[in-house]
Amino acid sequence: MEKDIYIGDVQSGAHDGQQIVLKGWINRTRGSNKIRFIVLRDSTGRIQCVAKRADVGDDTFEALAGALIETSVIMTGVVNVDERSEGGHELVVDSATIVGPVNPENPFPITESAMANAEGGETEFLLDNRHLYLRTARMTQMLKIRSSVFGAIHGYFRGLDFTEYHAPNFVAGAVEGGSTLFEVPYFGRKAYLTQSWQLYAEAAMPALERLYTIAPSFRAEKSRTRRHLTEFWHAEMEIAWAGNEDVMVHGEGVVRHIARTLLDERSDELAALGRDLDLVARYADNPYPRIRYDEAVETLQGMGVDIEWGQDLDYSKEKVLTQDFEVPHFLTHYPRIAKPFYHRPDPDDPKYVLCHDLLAPEGYGEIIGGGERTWSETEILERIEEEGTPREPYEFYIDVRKYGGVPHGGFGLGVDRVCSWLAGADHIREVIPFPRDSRRVTP
Ligand code: 4AD
Ligand code: MG
Repeated sequence: MEKDIYIGDVQSGAHDGQQIVLKGWINRTRGSNKIRFIVLRDSTGRIQCVAKRADVGDDTFEALAGALIETSVIMTGVVNVDERSEGGHELVVDSATIVGPVNPENPFPITESAMANAEGGETEFLLDNRHLYLRTARMTQMLKIRSSVFGAIHGYFRGLDFTEYHAPNFVAGAVEGGSTLFEVPYFGRKAYLTQSWQLYAEAAMPALERLYTIAPSFRAEKSRTRRHLTEFWHAEMEIAWAGNEDVMVHGEGVVRHIARTLLDERSDELAALGRDLDLVARYADNPYPRIRYDEAVETLQGMGVDIEWGQDLDYSKEKVLTQDFEVPHFLTHYPRIAKPFYHRPDPDDPKYVLCHDLLAPEGYGEIIGGGERTWSETEILERIEEEGTPREPYEFYIDVRKYGGVPHGGFGLGVDRVCSWLAGADHIREVIPFPRDSRRVTP
């Protein structure tokens, strides 16, 4: 039953002249009363299948002639090399079986005219039909790129002996500030969906020393920008005996490794999406400069952007700043008042914290946030008090620091953002199968 021949293999010439069985879905169909040209698709590509009434018999011919788009079929025939066909091959069909028909009263809804005429516009129409939109070429390409990005992240960290480690998703406190917390009823109490794996990772830091994860994080973001989701995939790492600089080396390392992996594994998909492969190669091959927050603020002010020292950079500002970047840049040393309590103040100038954001070029902006942690008990108590955060949810976090605290740090990388940037997508929702934002939890 398991399928053994994929269209991609046929198109690459692995079965020329052979009699084969192809399983897939009808992507397009046309023809006459004597001959049908059926474009079959599967997860690897498309191929034209030619069925003549004289070869397949009346019953099969009528079934194929009446089969609608997205009908699943099994076709048997001979592979013909034909330069005029898409991909250079076609299947000359001798028999065919319809597996899953499509009812003519309810045809596949995603068509050019339906998109053009949709009441709420094309984007909403495709989001409403996301469960069906997934099988279009564009989404298939995005999902394959996404899979390679996940593989590259696992490969990078496992290759350096990091241990994969898991933290709870139901938590009692904020990591990144209370304004984006999702509250959930929890057996008569309140709990929250976690914004980050970090605090629980720090608890395991003395046990594992080098740890990472890829897991969903949640943010109750009302803003619907091209880079915000309420549920996103977060690759995070934590490392013992390390400072801000050491952590940045891994941030740069993993992002360059992702870009290199995509060039190795997904050049065809990137090219099909219209992505310039030279840009991706540039991101894989070149070092990422480091600049201080103050310098970035001055640059922005010089460009006429209205920004005051002490503000975190929001998307509108990062967009302007990164428009002309040739490669991603690290922004370091943000003002202490702009960042959460866990960031370690710079001993040389405690107005700043030892942190970094990695900003992607082409206007994409922040893809990584990280830095060195406040690791002594006295300092963390000061920071919590200074922020005015209630102490109770963080008792475990403080406790960890009572028993052999060491310098350590880590970062979080927004996996969907990296996919979006490297694929050259217009919007983050293009790279995740079922995007969640403030207006949408369906389908
Ligand atoms: O900068 P953030 O908020 O940092 C943290 O959560 C740290 N606790 C991570 C750590 O040090 N372990 O988030 C990290 C990254 C951002 O740079 C961004 O790429 C992504 O997570 N991110 C989002 N991606 C999509 N939608 C959202 N709403 C996101 N919020 C953050
Ligand atoms: Mg951030």
